[in-house]
Amino acid sequence: MEEHTTTVDKPATSRRHFIDLLLGVSVVAWLASVAYPIIRYLKPLPQTGSGGPTHLTRDEASKLEQKQFVIVPVSGQRVIVVNVQDRTCAFSAKCTHEGCTVTYLPGQSVIWCPCHDGRFDLNGRVLSGPPPRPLSQYAVNRQPDGGIVISEERA
Ligand code: FES
Repeated sequence: MEEHTTTVDKPATSRRHFIDLLLGVSVVAWLASVAYPIIRYLKPLPQTGSGGPTHLTRDEASKLEQKQFVIVPVSGQRVIVVNVQDRTCAFSAKCTHEGCTVTYLPGQSVIWCPCHDGRFDLNGRVLSGPPPRPLSQYAVNRQPDGGIVISEERA
C-alpha cells in the first residue's frame, strides 16, 4: 500500500517542480522585458574617439541603403546620414530650434523636424518652420571598399 502512495506522489512533486520552474522563468523573462527598454533608453549613446571619424557599421550601411537615411553617433552627437541619388550627406540630427531629433522624408527630399514642423533641404538650410539656423554639416567620405566614414563638422 505504501509503495503505491510513493509512486503516485513522485509525478505530482515533479509536476509541481516543473510548474514552479516555469513560473520562475516567466517572472524573470517579464522582468527582463520591462528592464531592458528602460536601461536601453537611459544608456548614453556610445562615444567615439574625441573628434575621430565614425565608420558606419554593416547594419547602419544596409539601413542607409534601405531607408535612405540613418542616424548614427559621431563624437557623442547624433548625426543623420542621408543617401539620395548617389549623393551621401550628413548633418547634425539635433534641430536648431529646440533640439528635437530630425528625420528624413524620402518622398519630399527634406529633413524634417516632427516637433514643430521645421524643414531643411539636403544642404541643411532651413526651408520652413521655426528653426533659426541651418543644420551643422558633417564630412562624408566613401572608402574604396565601399565603407562610409563620417567625421566632425566641417569648419
Ligand atoms: S524643435 Fe525642431 S522645429 Fe522646433
